[in-house]
Amino acid sequence: MEGLGWDRVAVDNRFLIERVRGLQVLDSRGNPTVKAYVYTRGGSTGWAIAPSGASKGGREAVELRDGGRRWAGKGVKLAVARLNELVGPRLVGVDSRLQSYVDTLLREIDGTSTKSRLGGNVTTAVSIANARAAAMELGVELFQYLGGPQARLLPIPILNVINGGVHAGNELDFQEFLIVPHGAPNFEEALRWSVEIYHTLKKSLKEKYGSFSINVGDEGGFAPPMKSAEEALQALTEAIESAGFKLGEEVALGIDAAASQFYREGVYIVGGRRLSREDLLSYYERLRGDYPIVYFEDPFHEDDVEGFASAVEAFREKAIIVGDDFLVTNRALVEERGGKAATGLLVKVNQAGTLTEALDAVTAARDRGMAVVVSHRSGDSEDPFIADLSVAVEALMIKTGAPARSERTSKYNRLLEIESLLGPSAAYSGFRLKRLVKHF
Ligand code: PGA
Ligand code: ZN
Repeated sequence: MEGLGWDRVAVDNRFLIERVRGLQVLDSRGNPTVKAYVYTRGGSTGWAIAPSGASKGGREAVELRDGGRRWAGKGVKLAVARLNELVGPRLVGVDSRLQSYVDTLLREIDGTSTKSRLGGNVTTAVSIANARAAAMELGVELFQYLGGPQARLLPIPILNVINGGVHAGNELDFQEFLIVPHGAPNFEEALRWSVEIYHTLKKSLKEKYGSFSINVGDEGGFAPPMKSAEEALQALTEAIESAGFKLGEEVALGIDAAASQFYREGVYIVGGRRLSREDLLSYYERLRGDYPIVYFEDPFHEDDVEGFASAVEAFREKAIIVGDDFLVTNRALVEERGGKAATGLLVKVNQAGTLTEALDAVTAARDRGMAVVVSHRSGDSEDPFIADLSVAVEALMIKTGAPARSERTSKYNRLLEIESLLGPSAAYSGFRLKRLVKHF
């Protein structure tokens, strides 16, 4: 690459990348994924594991998978080989602190607009492993390395406790029903409230629907045999209240419809009915009239800009409209659609493919006054990286599943650790929601 030769300006050799290595490991769904290691000369080993989605946006970075019969076609041996052979040699000698330079090299080695040569699974894992290596070498916490010394705001955990859509084998069309414990005084309490609600819900689902209903979906939420969003929202309402919390004021609700999944040729198929964009909006409005839903993610198909804009208009000061598949952590899309057609950005680093590109999308979202929500994927791992990222970017919320299954709790546990590391300087983002949502 032509340029200033950032790789040669290091004054401290211990930050230089000595070696980069990849390994095929498993994600939480039992599918192969890429683990990357970045070794510094100073002796630090940064690592990261790429997550993997099930309801992907059409424009996200693509994963490189082997195909064929082994590993049910999902092997990543080729991806790992490209990591070892193409990425490794190019990064050796580069200063690991130069994150954006490392990410630019990754993009350059890949050379495609969708990351299809190296695979977004390779670029994501290497990019994050590099950040972790640099932080370790510096001897600072990852959230501080990425966010600076003032990073001290813990996000509101929004917990997906009832699963539907492609994440579950039931008849719920919407993919996720979330609880939003914004009224808690700190992160630990927010998590306690959520856990108490989760267990209350578990008991009541078992009583009402039988023991099959407490089997969990991909993100640890229950997947009861419910048929409608009303049924799910009602169950959450009852669980919140019987656990002793004030609905709305203390714990509000959220929905990730993942609407691209139930969109067929111009219509939305919900509960067996064919809904137009306008019908679907009216349905959301009815639900919002009955329940304190402060968060709607992907309420319309990923290219239904008009639908999104109508939701922004309809729910001003009532709910944030968050783009996941709609924005795919992509700066250009945030610039084009943010603000008018979405008031929140879901951040998934592997949609962008590198940390730098994901942070660019965050900056664009901030410039438009949008809420930032850092997210896991439905196929995830023990890597708690997004916990650190959420604190670093002062995310309003983090979405990382139910408080169950280790790939989900690893993020919550890391946030508990961060809150405890920060001690009295830690702050909780709950109060920030009230700036965006005035009616609960
Ligand atoms: P995923 O979806 O299955 O693509 O990770 C999660 C989401 O829609 O938020
Ligand atoms: Zn989503």
